[in-house]
Amino acid sequence: MGNLMKKMNEQFNLELESGYLYLAMSAHLKERDMEGFAHFMFKQAHEEFEHAMKFYNFLFEVDEKVEYTGIKKPEFKAESFTDVFKQALEHEKFISKSIRELYKLAEEEKNYEALEFLGWFIDEQVEEEDNFRGIVTRFERINESWNGLYIFDAELGKRE
Ligand code: FEO
Repeated sequence: MGNLMKKMNEQFNLELESGYLYLAMSAHLKERDMEGFAHFMFKQAHEEFEHAMKFYNFLFEVDEKVEYTGIKKPEFKAESFTDVFKQALEHEKFISKSIRELYKLAEEEKNYEALEFLGWFIDEQVEEEDNFRGIVTRFERINESWNGLYIFDAELGKRE
């Protein structure tokens, strides 16, 4: 397995890990009876597993092996509801950086198939960060007031 493919396999595992982190955040929110926020994070986790499967399928399509390297325990300590979503935004920034590094490596290795494949993720990360940034802005304006939190909870609970 070349360096790029090794890193693509790491990204596959990282997407699973992202899903696992969001499931933990979802449980944290559900424990605090914010069903809408919990639902939103649950859906986000599902999206991460879809991302993982895109890497999984790509690796098979280019005749590479897939290795499950293990998922680490989600580490986050949130002081507030705002804080949970801030940490999700930070996580997305970390994922964007990782995707950009993969893209750079694919350029260096002149792997055009991988570049094409990773182009979708470059766009997707712009969208992911934009979504979370918008949500964090709303949370900052709500400033943990229960009125605002319950209205926003109902809104995020509608995510399909
Ligand atoms: Fe798969 Fe939210 O990045």
